[in-house]
Amino acid sequence: MSTAISPTAYNYKVVRQFAIMTVVWGILGMGLGVFIASQLVWPELNFGLPWTSFGRLRPLHTNLVIFAFGGCALFATSYYVVQRTCQTRLISDSLAAFTFWGWQAVIVGAIITLPLGYTTTKEYAELEWPLAILLAIVWVSYGLVFFGTITKRKTKHIYVGNWFYGAFIVVTAMLHIVNHASLPVSFFKSYSAYSGATDAMIQWWYGHNAVGFFLTTGFLGMMYYFVPKQAERPIYSYRLSIVHFWALITLYIWAGPHHLHYTALPDWAQSLGMAMSIILLAPSWGGMINGMMTLSGAWHKLRTDPILRFLVVSLAFYGMSTFEGPMMAIKTVNSLSHYTDWTIGHVHAGALGWVAMISIGAIYHMIPKLFGRAQMHSVGLINAHFWLATIGTVLYIASMWVNGITQGLMWRAINDDGTLTYSFVEALQASHPGYIVRALGGAFFASGMFLMAYNVWRTVRASNAAEAEAAAQIAVVGAH
Ligand code: HEM
Ligand code: HEM
Repeated sequence: MSTAISPTAYNYKVVRQFAIMTVVWGILGMGLGVFIASQLVWPELNFGLPWTSFGRLRPLHTNLVIFAFGGCALFATSYYVVQRTCQTRLISDSLAAFTFWGWQAVIVGAIITLPLGYTTTKEYAELEWPLAILLAIVWVSYGLVFFGTITKRKTKHIYVGNWFYGAFIVVTAMLHIVNHASLPVSFFKSYSAYSGATDAMIQWWYGHNAVGFFLTTGFLGMMYYFVPKQAERPIYSYRLSIVHFWALITLYIWAGPHHLHYTALPDWAQSLGMAMSIILLAPSWGGMINGMMTLSGAWHKLRTDPILRFLVVSLAFYGMSTFEGPMMAIKTVNSLSHYTDWTIGHVHAGALGWVAMISIGAIYHMIPKLFGRAQMHSVGLINAHFWLATIGTVLYIASMWVNGITQGLMWRAINDDGTLTYSFVEALQASHPGYIVRALGGAFFASGMFLMAYNVWRTVRASNAAEAEAAAQIAVVGAH
């Protein structure tokens, strides 16, 4: 903790913009999640139109929740953390503003093109080449702002949270550029530069590391700043955080083949992916334990502080999904889980339980500070949000476990004469109750986001421009 006094103020404007948009895109992305979950219960909701069909709205959901909601949360928190831990203002206000507007433009582009059916067909990399190029330019600018700010830091060391954010920025750029290499044939259509099994492997090297670096490493950066801050305790072990960092980034990059078990991918590559995924449990849990143990001596705060509860429960879900993932990577387990709703349950244990909960906790922590208020408008509403989010997540993942195992077992059941015991439609009918529970869980989670929007709006409205500016000034004087 430093007490250095600087004449400058932080750039909170861009942090505020990204923080507000996190809430906006969260509502839209999760609302769309509830809608597509409802389509699986009531297929009439496809309305018989191509633009509103499940197949086109599903990638829009994933793009909105991962890149719009998750991305804005990562931009907001990384710009906030890098300034406060480096005790300096962002290196360029105009480049930072470009990253904000550029990122929003990519998202609006996704909202227009995906329902129209323009897609590369690669999961999580669906955006066609003009948008992909814009995204790459915005991302490189983000890297310049982030690393440029680090170079002009006033502190001696680089806080570990920034290491995680830094790795997330560098690796995401690498993944995006390599996986998007393609040949455009028109303004809205391109073909991948790779073919066959190579194309599949590059795509899942990208896909898995999008999970590993976008949905994990960046959010671990968030964890390393906001958990100690909110608990008002130093991080449990700085040494463990360094081991955690190097082990995580070294191992993650090898685990992609677990998405391609029992495919045309060479068998040795599948086994390598499986082995690396199992080893990945160690650094993942190392990070979780480091976060959890930071609460030593502060556990009682959980009784009164719902923001801390969001952060700690997110770590619990992180631990759970990073235990489940390595298990699902074992080939024999994957032969049951693959193609079933078990995968969808695993995804949302990570996405809702970990990614969304830690982002929500971090935004609640930042908003009052960004707008010069002592605290959020209503702690009671944060508490209500916490319970809606937790119950919603549990309903979602429990129903998908039941559905996934039911589907896996029904698909593989064979009669004595070798014919299938159940038709596909029978397995679908058996999944129907689970789909209703999942839609309900999703509705719980999404309704919590409305409470958040109201709470944020009241907090922002109570602030005025002078107070907000003063917040940025005072912060430089205070401890990071
Ligand atoms: C209210 C909350 C949410 C609901 C109701 C919801 C619902 C859904 C549904 C119905 C699907 C399609 C499942 C299928 O094809 O069978 C899906 C897919 C997906 N969602 Fe969500 N979702 C929510 C929040 C989120 C969030 C916050 C994230 C990420 C941060 C996320 C990430 C994903 C991903 C990555 C997939 C694709 C999974 C795969 O292909 O295996 N979702 N979601
Ligand atoms: C040690 C950590 C983890 C390992 C080893 C792991 C492993 C796996 C495995 C084996 C699958 C199923 C592949 C398939 O059958 O197609 C999977 C799917 C997935 N996991 Fe994880 N997982 C981990 C952590 C996480 C976390 C923390 C998140 C989210 C934040 C996450 C998000 C996803 C997504 C989005 C998919 C679906 C990909 C798709 O098919 O579209 N995973 N993971």
